[in-house]
Amino acid sequence: MVQLYSICSNGNRVVSGEVNSKLQEEPEVRIRSYDGKKDCTRIGDLERSCVVGPADGASLFTDTLGDPICRIRNSPTYIMLVAELEEELIGVIQGSIKVVAIRNPPWNLAKLGYILGLRVDPTHRRKGVGLTLVHSLEEWFVSNGAEYAYMATEKDNEASTRLFMDRLGYIQFRTPSILVNPVNKCRGLLRISSGIEIKKLGREHALLMYKRCMGSAEFFPEDMDAILENKLSLGTWVAYYKDDPYKDNSTNDDGSRHAPANWAAVSVWNSGELFKLRLGNAPLSYTAYTKISKLMDRFLPCFGVPSIPDFFSPFGFYFIYGIYSEGPMSGMLVRNLCRHVHNMAASSSTSKDCKAVVTEVGDSDKNKVHIPHRKLLSCPEDLWCIKPLKEEGKGKGNLHRLLAAAPEARSLFVDPREV
Ligand SMILES: CC(C)(COP(=O)(O)OP(=O)(O)OC[C@H]1O[C@@H](n2cnc3c(N)ncnc32)[C@H](O)[C@@H]1OP(=O)(O)O)[C@@H](O)C(=O)NCCC(=O)NCCS
Repeated sequence: MVQLYSICSNGNRVVSGEVNSKLQEEPEVRIRSYDGKKDCTRIGDLERSCVVGPADGASLFTDTLGDPICRIRNSPTYIMLVAELEEELIGVIQGSIKVVAIRNPPWNLAKLGYILGLRVDPTHRRKGVGLTLVHSLEEWFVSNGAEYAYMATEKDNEASTRLFMDRLGYIQFRTPSILVNPVNKCRGLLRISSGIEIKKLGREHALLMYKRCMGSAEFFPEDMDAILENKLSLGTWVAYYKDDPYKDNSTNDDGSRHAPANWAAVSVWNSGELFKLRLGNAPLSYTAYTKISKLMDRFLPCFGVPSIPDFFSPFGFYFIYGIYSEGPMSGMLVRNLCRHVHNMAASSSTSKDCKAVVTEVGDSDKNKVHIPHRKLLSCPEDLWCIKPLKEEGKGKGNLHRLLAAAPEARSLFVDPREV
């Protein structure tokens, strides 16, 4: 895929064939597909030069371990586009396509394009390169049958919110929370309550359980089996009270499936196997907390102030997805499952640099209050924005407005492949 664009001073772009004589004098931005041999190192340099997020907040850098498309390669259909200006690589964007459940019947399934990894070299910003990359990706989505495009951004990322919402017509429709719990290896393993049992489900049982219980959750992917089978998926665990056990194939007398009164489930994805994160700078509150907590932990351990691991050197993390619970006392089960995942991360011999357990849950998800996390490290409002790619009014064309107006579904499925 190669397209040539001239970018006018107002940020509008013109496809090369339509360029008039005046614009032909301007250098052309070339949008083409990623070429591993040519672009790998240059994209690494670009990534390092781009701070994502608000200028005065914490800056997070991603190390893709020499594989710039690692964040999309586990999706069913994907592409990375690059923007070149006279042989200089000045921008990049990634996209993936999948089919998901959408809440409002009869529109049960929708084909969505997900936008991520948009970066423009700091010296070429505000010239329409970002806009051009998104337009090109949207064209690719349309040519692959996607009905909607969506993306997620930090609420405080003004450049990104203005670009997508003000200029490109994306509408905010969900604000899930990203919850981060540091893994304290030196503090040992966390205690699992004695009355609670945790067991690992086989893949087939996990798939059946998710289809039965979360099949109608917003954004539940049609290819859930591919997620569970992926080597990055470490497994699915259920927790229940010992006196009312969870049995894989247990049925009631009438043939209906028997489930305990309270139970919960989570799956775990090893994101650190794909890429590492590193904190560039951090707000004063974070630096002060880490210093004080380290001192307290060392000299006054009896106060139990847990210190935060060193996030300034590259680290990996486990991502918890598919959090599900049933029953009035299932909150405790969710909490214990999260402790179990923390312990897996703390004791793993293969993921030595795993320093956090991360999850993302819908704003109104009842499990949210039971997930251990550190406020200082978490993001209370991740902004999800959506836009129809087909003409409005036709078919499902106005779904994005319905989604934006509808109250958030009970559970929102956050795909680990899109983290
Ligand atoms: C966000 C980013 C990709 C924008 O790239 P860009 O090439 O500068 O964007 P464009 O020139 O196409 O901007 C188009 C419009 O977006 C908005 N916009 C872009 N950058 C902006 C900024 N810093 N502040 C306010 N609005 C901004 C403006 O409306 C702009 O139109 P205008 O210049 O006519 O006012 C770039 O700032 C970047 O790489 N940031 C770091 C990485 C990041 O945060 N990525 C987004 C993650 S979702």
